Amino acid sequence: MSNYKNKIRSFGMLLAGLAASMFFLTSCGKEEKPGVVYYDVDYITVGFSQVGAESDWRVANTEDIKNSLSRYNGIDLIFDDAQQKQDKQILAIRKFIQQEVNYIVLAPVTEKGWDTVLKEANEAGIPVIVVDRKVDVKDDSLFKAWVGSDFSRESEIACLWLKEYADKKRVQAGDINIVDIQGTLGATAQIGRTSGLESAARKYGWNILASVPADYAQSKAEEVMTDLLRKYPEVNVVYCENDNEALGTIDAIEKAGRKVGTDITKGEILIISFDATHAGLSRVLEKKIALDVECNPLQGETIRDLIKTVDSGEEFPKYTYVEEKAFSADETVSSIELSGDKYEITLLTEEILEERQY
Ligand code: AHR
Repeated sequence: MSNYKNKIRSFGMLLAGLAASMFFLTSCGKEEKPGVVYYDVDYITVGFSQVGAESDWRVANTEDIKNSLSRYNGIDLIFDDAQQKQDKQILAIRKFIQQEVNYIVLAPVTEKGWDTVLKEANEAGIPVIVVDRKVDVKDDSLFKAWVGSDFSRESEIACLWLKEYADKKRVQAGDINIVDIQGTLGATAQIGRTSGLESAARKYGWNILASVPADYAQSKAEEVMTDLLRKYPEVNVVYCENDNEALGTIDAIEKAGRKVGTDITKGEILIISFDATHAGLSRVLEKKIALDVECNPLQGETIRDLIKTVDSGEEFPKYTYVEEKAFSADETVSSIELSGDKYEITLLTEEILEERQY
């Protein structure tokens, strides 16, 4: 495999103005601005197959990866949006192989179904880096590395928080009636978040009235929740597997004349969500989402560093988990015990919300 440092090569094309102090990267090797010295560059080409644009989280993830895997950073990125379809992702990967890219970055829609195409990439000698959700393949050497979130941990945080919250509000476990608005079935985020809720419900004695997928999409979640409210008027907790689903759920509840809020003892419906995007956190500030567990979409820099490390032949981790927090609407629970350690729950403030870029 070629060495990254060797990829950015000067071809001795020092043009005018050797005294100039600014250096820019360009692929054409000619003088573009008087007094500025340009280098001719052989970029690392990367094909990136993204799931789609189903959520604010996904849009932020795409933006961040595009910014990090840029020509400015010595990378020529070929981007493909698969519109939530695995067959489109497989086609994109096959096209990247034909284009002889140096690396493939794959954000897989679901875990299963990747063995054949990843084997093809492997046989073509193209390293694959999986991001966000995982792939369930028989042979782990079919991908070089993975970068993303610990979705089971996110769910554990949410459920430990709910347990503490219910205890503090003196709500009996048997009076907690939950509906789960799931993500895309078979996606790692859905598997981790749904199974975390199921095992907590078994452990603590909560009722799960229904679990219905809404593909992480706002309008689908509104439809699903409208239906669920008719079937299960006793619902008092909605566990939304991302922020866009939470936004749709809030609309459905309010249109049905019910109230979202943090006090289920007063008949309010409490919402838990994941992502902590700007839109989600603004509902936390309004106390319409009680807890928003962060899913960090800013993975671009880690992916870029990983590509450079792999390219230079140095050691790299197979799995990298990104840092994540949890934001609450009130101070009822300020910390939980997570795997024997104290985990702080951050009370959301206007300042935190203002800083959130996506
Ligand atoms: O896989 C990450 C999930 O996918 C995010 O929670 C969601 O918003 C996105 O679409």
